[in-house]
Amino acid sequence: MKYVLAPSILSADFKVLGEQMRLTEENGAEYLHFDVMDGMFVPSISFGLPVLASIREATRQIKDVHLMIQDPVRYVEAFKEAGADFLTIHLEACQDPAAVIHKIHECKMKAGLSICPETDVREAEGFLDQIDMFLMMSVHPGFGGQKFIPESLDRIRAVRKMAEERGLDLDIEVDGGIYLTNVEEVLDAGANVIVAGSAVFNGDPSQNTKKFMEILSHYE
Ligand code: DX5
Ligand code: ZN
Repeated sequence: MKYVLAPSILSADFKVLGEQMRLTEENGAEYLHFDVMDGMFVPSISFGLPVLASIREATRQIKDVHLMIQDPVRYVEAFKEAGADFLTIHLEACQDPAAVIHKIHECKMKAGLSICPETDVREAEGFLDQIDMFLMMSVHPGFGGQKFIPESLDRIRAVRKMAEERGLDLDIEVDGGIYLTNVEEVLDAGANVIVAGSAVFNGDPSQNTKKFMEILSHYE
């Protein structure tokens, strides 16, 4: 299993975004996590298609797009055109999640499925064999800089167990409140893709990325 860091640019300094992305790429972050918010599914609004289309030229990192938007089926083709590699949707935001997952695959992207902290993990169970990555929210989606919800660790373990029982080598990404101080607990629970916004971009993104990569390297 591959262990990967996905810095979330939600916490980056947008006036020097290209430079900050480069610092994470140079120090080993293979993914770039891109949070799209619509002001409906979550209360805030972040950034969207034109920003993604612009940054795709500036990095070779895998563009890991997390859609916190209602009815994401409407935008699958557009995110492919803008440069998404992974497209993650929320179970709670779709009428027919299987159809959206199918459409993401038809558009030649990897499909991710996410659930909010209050959603029962069993609701995602039937979709695990259809997706490339499961994204466990460990904070309430919508804002960077929140505190990790401790119950998320048991939820990660539960999803890893469900995947293993089905013989699936599933990527499990965890998003929200992850710092150098708690990342090992998240990895030990069964996650292999780590999203970190504040912990990478507050302070020195080079040093922060390096320190995360040092920890991740013990899991290779
Ligand atoms: C929250 C977003 C996260 C956010 C994480 O809704 O999905 O990706 O950027 O930020 P931190 O790492 O600061 O909790
Ligand atoms: Zn996210």
